[in-house]
Amino acid sequence: MTRILAVANQKGGVGKTTTVINLGASIAVHDKEVLVIDLDPQANATSGLGSEEADVLGIHSFISGENTLEECTVKTEVEGLSLVRGARHLAGTEIELASQDEREYFLAEALSASDLSGYDYVLIDCPPSLGLLTVNALVAADGVILTVQSEYYALEGLSHLMETIRRIKAHWNKKLSIFGVVLTMYDKRLRLSREVEQNADEFLGKTLFRTRIPRNVRLSEAPSFGKPVILYDAFSSGAKSYMSLAREVMGR
Ligand SMILES: Nc1ncnc2c1ncn2[C@@H]1O[C@H](COP(=O)(O)OP(=O)(O)OP(=O)(O)O)[C@@H](O)[C@H]1O
Ligand SMILES: [Mg+2]
Repeated sequence: MTRILAVANQKGGVGKTTTVINLGASIAVHDKEVLVIDLDPQANATSGLGSEEADVLGIHSFISGENTLEECTVKTEVEGLSLVRGARHLAGTEIELASQDEREYFLAEALSASDLSGYDYVLIDCPPSLGLLTVNALVAADGVILTVQSEYYALEGLSHLMETIRRIKAHWNKKLSIFGVVLTMYDKRLRLSREVEQNADEFLGKTLFRTRIPRNVRLSEAPSFGKPVILYDAFSSGAKSYMSLAREVMGR
């Protein structure tokens, strides 16, 4: 069975794209087939996986139904990791979508019309907003992974996000669940990080992944080489932490 997971948080810069790229790569090296869908007009997952943004045959052609998933998918340097490329003009698509009926279902429909049987996991990278693109991702997904940066106010934004998820579940997608929450940019030497961790633990219980993603410079350098961190520095703490997260995800 293919598991479709959206990686979301309306807050910017909290490690969504880093998680999509590196969790995707770390699952793929366990002999799984993983598809990353770049649903963010910033197209950071696309460049971080070494691809150019797509004029045609990317996310736009896929959700508009012009082309099939197969036509819109490219391979990456990691065996087993494929990508539907993002594009800046997807921001325009979001505006086009806004005036159409059933606008919440475009991605869900495109995916259900596709043959996903070759994939174990589909990971969707969401933009930093709760706009239509993120709603489309949450309507298409079975589960959502929330990335939370270990800093002040992180949990306040989280309750708003969880409320949105509850609404989407009630109106559009009964099968949606919170698959897990991951603490990113964690620094155990900082009291603030430990406080956020403790609050997250109390608030989230088992939803919180045990793996913490540390602040690690290798994770921030790797995208400029168009590589996931396991191909850039497999022995870095960042690479090890995403491997550990991958095992947790596959075990859930
Ligand atoms: N664990 C980490 N350690 C160090 N740097 C990190 C880590 N995670 C992410 N970064 C860096 O922080 C910045 C934001 O991360 P990322 O792009 O993954 O966040 P995002 O939530 O996808 O952002 P946006 O909301 O803009 O899409 C990037 O420069 C990234 O390289
Ligand atoms: Mg991003």
